[in-house]
Amino acid sequence: MTTSATARAHANIALVKYWGKRDAARNLPAAGSLSLTLDALTTITTVSFDAWLDADAMTLDGRDATAAELARTSTWLDLVRARAGIATRAKIETVNHFPTASGLASSASGFAALALAASTAAGLALPARELSILARIGSGSAARSIYGGLVRMRAGDLSEEAFAEPLDDPEGLTPRLRMIVAIVGGGAPKLHGSRDAMEHSAATSPYHAAWVAQVPRDLAAAEAAIAAADLGALGAIVEGNALAMHAAAIASRPPVLYWQPATLAALSTVQSLRDAGAVAWATMDAGPHVKVLTTATDADTVAAAMRATPGVTDVLVSASGPGAELLP
Ligand code: PMV
Repeated sequence: MTTSATARAHANIALVKYWGKRDAARNLPAAGSLSLTLDALTTITTVSFDAWLDADAMTLDGRDATAAELARTSTWLDLVRARAGIATRAKIETVNHFPTASGLASSASGFAALALAASTAAGLALPARELSILARIGSGSAARSIYGGLVRMRAGDLSEEAFAEPLDDPEGLTPRLRMIVAIVGGGAPKLHGSRDAMEHSAATSPYHAAWVAQVPRDLAAAEAAIAAADLGALGAIVEGNALAMHAAAIASRPPVLYWQPATLAALSTVQSLRDAGAVAWATMDAGPHVKVLTTATDADTVAAAMRATPGVTDVLVSASGPGAELLP
């Protein structure tokens, strides 16, 4: 017997970053985080539990998963099996619909789509909060991709308290927001994966504790700025928070340095855009790319300036996207 389900989830970009765990085994974050789900970057995943299979099997964008990718997913799938009371192995087919060869992280949309598809195929009808916890165990940032729009991740004290939830947006800021993604370095694979890099940073950076202490302050200020629809205040926190995360990472020994010359050029373009009166605030994740928070009104101006920046190889524009959903 086969039972299968297909789900789609969207990537998200953190406005206040998650960087560091307080418990690596259960993937518990050291602090909360806040993100915007993006409509332009999606993952579609089909999970089929099949009684004839001897082992789990997985394809990613049409190629067979590596042994390491399969092992990580299989271990995670055991959680779903335990919960559903089944031992059946599964076939997983996952496809990323990212409009450029971007090297952008797909773990957030990937584990969010997987959590919904696998739990549904296993016969579970989990509420969104449970899906968020399940996705978090796969990848911390994936907990946020269960929801659309602006999303807050709670650090919680216990595993069942570390989940994401939609953030109130009383002034209706979300539909006005745009994220411009400037790809640097042609989307080459990243040097240090976020999982290992954040552990190394926590273990060796003299600034890690200061970073973790700063996050709750940035979260409170970002939420207040969103409640007041104050984009200037929000943007200043977004940029400062990302640079603080990178400062802590760069101070690791040996350093975790994601920046390339074009990264600095892109950051300088963002400053010039702001000087010229545009809404433009930079953020960066575990890679050299620069993402710019802006508005629907300024999106074309910002995208054109990023495209014209030497070393930027591709630019994509995204509005806010929806949460994870099942496909027929
Ligand atoms: O969940 P991971 O392992 O993909 O880590 C995400 C880390 C950052 O992208 C750098 C920050 C974030 O909050 O998304």
